[in-house]
Amino acid sequence: MCGIVGYIGKREAYPILIKGLKRLEYRGYDSAGVAIISNNQQLNVYKTKGKVTDLENFVTQKDISGNIGIAHTRWATHGEPCSVNAHPHYSSSETLALIHNGIIENYAVLKEKLQAKGYTFKSNTDTEVLVQLIEYMKVTNHLDLLTAVQLALREVIGAYAIAVLEKDHPDEIIAARKSSPLVVGIGADEFFLASDATPIVEYTDKVVYLEDEEIAVIHRDKELKVVNLNNVEMTPEVTKVEMNLGQLEKEGYPHFMLKEIFEQPGCIHDCMRGRINIDGNSVVLSAVIDYKEKLLKAKRFIIVACGTSWHAGLIGKHLIESFCRIPVEVEYASEFRYRDPVIDENDVVIAISQSGETADTLAAVELAKSRGAFIYGICNAIGSSIPRATHTGSYIHVGPEIGVASTKAFTGQVTVLTMLALTLAREKRTIGEAQFLKVVHELNGIPEKMKQVLKLNDKIAELSKIFTYAHNFIYLGRGYSYPVALEGALKLKEISYIHAEGYPAAEMKHGPIALVDAEMPVVVIATQNGLYEKVLSNIQEIKARKGRVIALVTEGDTVISKIADYCIELPQTIECLDPLITTVPLQMLAYHVAVCKGMDVDQPRNLAKSVTVE
Ligand code: F6R
Repeated sequence: MCGIVGYIGKREAYPILIKGLKRLEYRGYDSAGVAIISNNQQLNVYKTKGKVTDLENFVTQKDISGNIGIAHTRWATHGEPCSVNAHPHYSSSETLALIHNGIIENYAVLKEKLQAKGYTFKSNTDTEVLVQLIEYMKVTNHLDLLTAVQLALREVIGAYAIAVLEKDHPDEIIAARKSSPLVVGIGADEFFLASDATPIVEYTDKVVYLEDEEIAVIHRDKELKVVNLNNVEMTPEVTKVEMNLGQLEKEGYPHFMLKEIFEQPGCIHDCMRGRINIDGNSVVLSAVIDYKEKLLKAKRFIIVACGTSWHAGLIGKHLIESFCRIPVEVEYASEFRYRDPVIDENDVVIAISQSGETADTLAAVELAKSRGAFIYGICNAIGSSIPRATHTGSYIHVGPEIGVASTKAFTGQVTVLTMLALTLAREKRTIGEAQFLKVVHELNGIPEKMKQVLKLNDKIAELSKIFTYAHNFIYLGRGYSYPVALEGALKLKEISYIHAEGYPAAEMKHGPIALVDAEMPVVVIATQNGLYEKVLSNIQEIKARKGRVIALVTEGDTVISKIADYCIELPQTIECLDPLITTVPLQMLAYHVAVCKGMDVDQPRNLAKSVTVE
């Protein structure tokens, strides 16, 4: 949940650390800090509540010299966001400084033990306990830092990615991970450290993704050394990262979220590249072909995910059940992992995650794996923990998503799920050739149709101004559009802080319709597909209670335009691909309402992009 950066080399560390923190700020932004060993051998720690820019203001006039340092941007777990709880944390003697992403679950027990030995604590954090424990191990046993870290981590229950600096050893950073990501970048005579590769790519494309319980010994003048908690030396696997720096910048857009909404036609095109061959009338998701026996033998599929990825999973269920006739369950990963689910080697689990780091989804994967299920990952972040924990999978290839509200990842996930269902259905012969070809050709044309939808941006921006008064919104859809209603409501609430609920349209009359009055905006996905007539009746029910209907309709619809208060006309597509079209205006609606209300769209309060704590 927090972001970690580190640098050791010949350059000044501070600018590299600050730039890195800005790249990772999506992971948390309630406080930030740096620790640098200065040119005159001081271990300086500066930290403050607020964003990275607040930290920059805080350090003016301070000694920020030095070419070794670590830095942190925080999303609070233990202790409120304030400068005392911000990282880095000093040990009592102020000779060690540590940053941490994760949760030390047994911190209270460890803290009591240390207090009994005379240690005092300044903050409420679990992290301060860890740095004090390392110091305690070091001092009482006369150990070097690496061994003290190994001993301390053996006592820790929980998740961590940490980096530690020692005042008297200005040539070394010790870093370790368990269940929280950590990447080491290898440059020429310099090393970088970060929670993901984004702060590293502008300096080097050579990275090592640390595995659980591995410790990196990063020495200025030596090769990278990786050991485990028992000091057995491991062989680090050096990976080449391919990332274009422009993907990490706003490139003229006022917010990453708007940029990412507009990137969707290109992203979906990239996602399909090499997988759909329109001349050959084929769709090939290689992981499906490679593991087809395993997949075809499955008695059922279980999709596990959180948030927006869970909404994509609901669409996946619809696609896989109708094309492949395989029963699919969709579970919140956080519920699944603690429910002792009935699952065995006849099940296939599909884990969907943009970041590939969501703690609950990762835990669900590990649980399902331990029961013998076959695990298929659908992720965006290359080399992240979930793809590495699964048996196989498909990346969505939509590029880094930086806005905290997920947009292009959702449409990428739905696109991969569509290709998965099509590939499998053809292998299973549960889809007729004509239907298969129709879906493939229509899918191939989606990026162009998305471009048409994006032309509605100004119109939707105008419409949004009308609704800044609202304290509540209802979103309705049926069939494939029900998950889109959920997703539209989630987008609105997370960035505009307006309460919004998504419902299957027909469920309205079982309770929620009591909420409808002349103030209530009701967004209805009412495109001309399957349940159009039914949705039309649902709109009439809302209008009869004076609700203000904003309807998403198919271009040329003359019926709903007479009943609804506002209509957004969208290009026609087939029912199963409708979510790829109807989601886009809902993203734009949420974005513009939030902008009109003056909200921090890319970094909404209380949220972080990658939820690496449960
Ligand atoms: C909503 C949003 C979150 C994520 C959820 C899962 O806009 O971004 O609901 O979808 O935290 O994250 P991933 O997909 O990274 O596992």
